[in-house]
Amino acid sequence: MDLKIALLAGDGIGPEVIEQAVRVSDAIAKKFNHNIQWTPALTGAAAIDAVGDPYPDETHQICLDADAVLFGAIGHPRFDNDPSAKVRPEQGLLKMRQKLGLFANVRPTFTFPSLLDKSPLKQERIEGTDLVFLRELTGGIYFGERGRLDNGNTAFDTCTYTRDEIKRLAKKGFELAMIRSKKLCCVDKANVLESSRLWRETVQAMEKEYPEVTVSYEFVDAVAMRLVQWPNSYDVLITENLFGDILTDEASVISGSMGLMPSASVGTENALYEPIHGSFPQATGLGIANPLATVLSAAMMFEMSFGLIEEGATIRKVVDQSLAEGIVTEDLKENGEKGNSTTEVGDYLVSKILS
Ligand code: IPM
Ligand code: MN
Repeated sequence: MDLKIALLAGDGIGPEVIEQAVRVSDAIAKKFNHNIQWTPALTGAAAIDAVGDPYPDETHQICLDADAVLFGAIGHPRFDNDPSAKVRPEQGLLKMRQKLGLFANVRPTFTFPSLLDKSPLKQERIEGTDLVFLRELTGGIYFGERGRLDNGNTAFDTCTYTRDEIKRLAKKGFELAMIRSKKLCCVDKANVLESSRLWRETVQAMEKEYPEVTVSYEFVDAVAMRLVQWPNSYDVLITENLFGDILTDEASVISGSMGLMPSASVGTENALYEPIHGSFPQATGLGIANPLATVLSAAMMFEMSFGLIEEGATIRKVVDQSLAEGIVTEDLKENGEKGNSTTEVGDYLVSKILS
């Protein structure tokens, strides 16, 4: 199969983890006889420096022309402490999500048997956790009207959702629930917010189309609590943009390291795969970044964009092997033990795929 992939490495540790995901994907292509054409493109602070725009038109065109986008991370500390910066790397991410129509962010949280003791939560609480958040990604307070009034002394951001926006996200949730355990949780704040009441009303109206799916409706504050108490009681969760942003960071630590969880952002035409961790500027260039979340994002890409299930499974298998063998970066090592470098982890994965 010919696979055309746009490669957006971005900032910080992005290029380092992307490099390993590319090596792993190339090894998969070799083993399974595929031909991958990678097209690199600029994004984030790197793109601001080069052309003054964190998501340049040229990058957008490359993404449109590709079958899938593999993305590293964006963000740079020199923008974080400067609230007056006119152009910010994160704007590139939001612009990209919107222009590519990536309305559904798929963020799984699962545990690895060999890492159960790495989680900050008790082993018996997290065993068997395997849940997926579907976070709405192109609406809500992230894209609503915002501004300042009263000579800058009052600020507002608005959360707006249309029934259609909720429907298309919820439809993905119901469909995913149908191929998993037929359990769907709609996360909202319908006791306070009108937009949440529209979410609830819309999802309730869809229930009859999926009679086999059991739907629960839970308030976001309660979910935040139950997620760390009984994560394994959840399966598919759907929610709006900001709630999803917060809850998926919370969920990501369940597995033991932020460096492990992959994600996909999908729309009707395009799809983008990225690790859920950020650009980790302090680690840039040190060779300590954990490449596994990006490698697992590539696995999701093979599975979801190309239907190449065995290829994805092969990546997951060698990742499990590296964890079981302890060929891991320092975030997964015990008591100051030296970790393998980012490249060494990649070397191991590639050699296992090709052996
Ligand atoms: C994420 C990030 C982004 C978000 C930021 C960088 C704009 O936190 O992908 O979760 O808030 O969506
Ligand atoms: Mn986030």
